[in-house]
Amino acid sequence: MKIVGFFIVFVLPGSLGFSQSGTGSVIPTAESGTIHSIVWGLLGIAVVTLLVLGMRKFLLFKNRALAQESLRYREKNDELVQANERLNTIYGELQKAYQDFGELLERFESIVEVLSKVGNNELDEKSFFGLFLGAALKIIPIANYGTVSLIMDHEWRFIAVEGYDGERLMVLRLPEENIRHIYEVTVVDALYDRYERDIDESVRDPLKEAVKPFKQSLLTPFIVDGKFYGTMALDIARENEATFTDGMKKVMTAFSKIASAFLAFKRQSVSQGKFQKNIILSLVRALEYYDRYTRGHSERVARIASLLAEAAGLDRESIRKIYWASLVHDVGKIYVPQLILNKAGKLTEEEFEEIRKHPGKSYEIIKETEGMDEIAQMVRHHHERWDGTGYPDRFIAEEIPISSRIITIADAYDAMTSERPYRKSIRKASVIEEFRRTSGTQFDPRLTNLFIGIISRTDFQE
Ligand SMILES: [Fe+2]
Repeated sequence: MKIVGFFIVFVLPGSLGFSQSGTGSVIPTAESGTIHSIVWGLLGIAVVTLLVLGMRKFLLFKNRALAQESLRYREKNDELVQANERLNTIYGELQKAYQDFGELLERFESIVEVLSKVGNNELDEKSFFGLFLGAALKIIPIANYGTVSLIMDHEWRFIAVEGYDGERLMVLRLPEENIRHIYEVTVVDALYDRYERDIDESVRDPLKEAVKPFKQSLLTPFIVDGKFYGTMALDIARENEATFTDGMKKVMTAFSKIASAFLAFKRQSVSQGKFQKNIILSLVRALEYYDRYTRGHSERVARIASLLAEAAGLDRESIRKIYWASLVHDVGKIYVPQLILNKAGKLTEEEFEEIRKHPGKSYEIIKETEGMDEIAQMVRHHHERWDGTGYPDRFIAEEIPISSRIITIADAYDAMTSERPYRKSIRKASVIEEFRRTSGTQFDPRLTNLFIGIISRTDFQE
């Protein structure tokens, strides 16, 4: 560019024939015409060259700026893309955290629900452990199935079942020695495959039919005062990949404390109940001393009525009430003259009339005690008959409370099988015959059928 500038400023004017006069004016000479055209042409070329070069320079400069700008944009864009990716990740994590939180909340709620039932005296063990098992499966969602089983009367019974055939499992009675007592939460592999070896032959097949193959179990024991009461088993299906972790064992160790607290509370209630029962038994025995032919009668009736109530599918609370009602059903006999009660010969109609007053008297005595209304009603109707010819209210069929119908059957059975002043005891075959004969007239036919089944299998006589 510098050379081009020099050419324009110093060389061109001279070569074009310009000269300076003394006055300072510039005048073209005549002989310079051709040269003049060439010079103007060259000047044009130079100007065009200058313009082209300048333009090129400008374009190069502009291009570089654009390239830099583009690079900056690309960098910015990359940053935006990265920022967007980070945001997406955070959003995903937030969503997951929210979901986890929702699940945690749900699990927490189920634990609280179970906890709130611990001190509930009305809730029976079956209902409580049903809730308990449901909550455990929410806390450990990799488990597919679950059972809760408790030791009762040296037998192993399932009382809550999830994912297996509950109806079949709950009627099974496994010998206690078939089950290992454990004292801490334990993970056991392939329990299902060990049935052949560990489970008594008599219950093995029904047990295998009621469950599904599982590969691993998380066993949580229920311990009260160092004593083993039962186990909750959470099982993973054989086809599943998952396995229980140490963390899950810890969670179940903590969770099992709720069940132990519930059992401790229930056992304490039971021992309080035993105390009350002993007081009432003392009173009943005083009555039986008064009426010597009914010695042991009330306790036997209570035991038999409870069995029948259980067979009839009544809940534990109703069975408990029937037991108490049976114990006190004859307390009204205290108003019947002792001479009549203990008379060895046949009773007259007037004497029978005196005896017929005892259910009403029992009712009056019992209803005086707060909270005993229902038991008082059960007692009042224990001499009603299915056909409506009983006493004191001549209730008919289902007007008679089911608990009273149950006590009636148990009472009659014990009367038939015990010596009475006016009758000798009769043999089992004759008892069954008698129940068949009076089913539908004296007794509820459905309950009688159930009862015939029970006495065919059992001998209540001591
Ligand atoms: Fe009676």
